[in-house]
Amino acid sequence: MSKVIRWGILGCGRIAGKFSSDLKLVSDAELIAVGSRSQESADNFADEFNVKYRHASYASLVENPEVDVIYIATPHNLHYENTLLCLNNNKAVLCEKPFAMNWKQSKEMIDLARQKNVFLMEALWTKFHPHYIKTMEVLKAGAIGDIKSVLINFGFKPTEPIPKRLFDAQLGGGTMMDIGIYNVFMALSVLGKPDEIFAHMIAAPTGVDEQCSVIFKYKTGAMASMFSTFSVNLATEAEICGTEGRLKLTSRFYEPSTILELYPSINVKEIIPVHKEDGFGYQYEARHVNYCLQNNLTESPIVSHDDTLLLMETLDTIRAVAGIKYETDNF
Ligand SMILES: NC(=O)c1ccc[n+]([C@@H]2O[C@H](COP(=O)([O-])OP(=O)(O)OC[C@H]3O[C@@H](n4cnc5c(N)ncnc54)[C@H](OP(=O)(O)O)[C@@H]3O)[C@@H](O)[C@H]2O)c1
Repeated sequence: MSKVIRWGILGCGRIAGKFSSDLKLVSDAELIAVGSRSQESADNFADEFNVKYRHASYASLVENPEVDVIYIATPHNLHYENTLLCLNNNKAVLCEKPFAMNWKQSKEMIDLARQKNVFLMEALWTKFHPHYIKTMEVLKAGAIGDIKSVLINFGFKPTEPIPKRLFDAQLGGGTMMDIGIYNVFMALSVLGKPDEIFAHMIAAPTGVDEQCSVIFKYKTGAMASMFSTFSVNLATEAEICGTEGRLKLTSRFYEPSTILELYPSINVKEIIPVHKEDGFGYQYEARHVNYCLQNNLTESPIVSHDDTLLLMETLDTIRAVAGIKYETDNF
């Protein structure tokens, strides 16, 4: 039996609840502590998930000597300061996406983790899902030939009560940082760093991007087209198209799925089955973090620091081109 990894949760919101639920599916993980801005929220969360320590501040959570690793599940603008707080207290960190508000913050976080020799990973859960791993296998095997076009969309019309963080610029709201990041992550996974980036956005009344359209252009002749929106419900699918066929990641492409659709020609569809466990799908990344900690790794071999920095650099460029700005920007 591997060493049990003792988890703490920082920020008791929606995604923290789903993650905690999935943590029960990880045999060598134990959720032992939560930290919240208020005692009431910490208590409610701890009662629901049967957690021993309920801290009424993030500062108190990171001082808990029994906690091995902290999952940061706060709004985007807080990831930087919350991560620094954890690392400065020698706590390993799994930080929700987007890793930070920009590349500069991300670099500082990674530099501190390296300096302290403490594990730090961006919670890009998709990369650990069986359907994503299968996608990469199928592409590597050449099943669709040379990849020329990647088409990805992610959109939904938020329903009441609309989460404040989606449209609030202070909290790092807007489609690009919240959902467009998955489109960009997928295009980077398939085609790598683009040679040129084009982007346009339409702002919500709060100033954040309510819709954003992005194009990546490659010297190889490949292109990726990405669209994110909070105005309408989209299919939220990804299509990877090559000279010998097309691979479709069905809705919603970034979550675990039981199938991939392969189209060797225009009217022929083959289903590639994929095994999917019960749960929301956060258990896969949690198991990987456990593996890293049990093996004394300070960086994930799957979501590397360079992967995170490339994603953040690309988001910075997209935002600069489209005119999506936050107070924390330095470009
Ligand atoms: N991987 C995924 O599938 C996925 C899905 C959804 C969201 N996310 C990411 O997870 C993070 C949290 O999203 P969420 O939907 O869980 O958000 P949420 O429900 O609003 O929860 C965020 C939590 O952060 C804490 N917080 C600290 N300062 C805050 C402030 N000024 N305003 C609001 N909350 C504040 C609060 O917890 P306390 O009051 O307990 O301190 C709050 O409950 C974001 O980075 C988001 O992009 C990831």
